[in-house]
Amino acid sequence: MNAIVLVDENWGIGIGGAQMKFNKEDLRNFNRVTTGNTVVMGYTTFVSLPKGPLKERRNVVFYDKDEPIEGVDVVSSLAQFMDMRDELGQIFVCGGQSIYNLLLPYCKYAYVTKIDGEYEVDTYFPDLDERPCWQCVEVQDGKFGQGTSYCTYENICLVE
Ligand SMILES: NC(=O)c1ccc[n+]([C@@H]2O[C@H](COP(=O)([O-])OP(=O)(O)OC[C@H]3O[C@@H](n4cnc5c(N)ncnc54)[C@H](OP(=O)(O)O)[C@@H]3O)[C@@H](O)[C@H]2O)c1
Repeated sequence: MNAIVLVDENWGIGIGGAQMKFNKEDLRNFNRVTTGNTVVMGYTTFVSLPKGPLKERRNVVFYDKDEPIEGVDVVSSLAQFMDMRDELGQIFVCGGQSIYNLLLPYCKYAYVTKIDGEYEVDTYFPDLDERPCWQCVEVQDGKFGQGTSYCTYENICLVE
């Protein structure tokens, strides 16, 4: 299982239920990497998707209420998610803050696009540079255009 995210200089990820900034190249990469696989997200992130479930991907949504949602697999606890994990193939954790916090300890890699600037945000991804378990193993400046950088972080504490 891996995480994928776009952060600003302060590891901010969103505001008011929406992503604070989009980058076309990053979005194209997100679709390329996740298509054919499973995406996992929280309900707030799910309802922010403009066209509903992400197509050509299995969508798993964390949702507290005991109600089905068309086109997605709903899970209401970490235990329930872990029970179905083996049948999900390659899994990408796609946010938001609560789900990154919940599932990051189980992720092997985090694919982090960084955009220059400090945006107004109310949600964050954990600052991996401050976490000894996470090491930046591949850096690419300008990977998604001017004002962006990219890093693959590896979780060296992961027990598989
Ligand atoms: N920059 C990026 O790459 C990126 C990517 C994704 C999201 N985001 C941003 O992140 C922000 C959303 O983050 P968020 O933390 O507020 O919301 P979230 O993680 O997307 O969803 C939170 C909701 O998920 C459900 N949930 C969470 N943990 C659960 C658990 N253990 N069991 C059952 N249900 C659970 C709850 O839904 P209910 O209580 O409603 O049932 C909770 O309110 C948005 O601004 C979004 O745009 C940014």
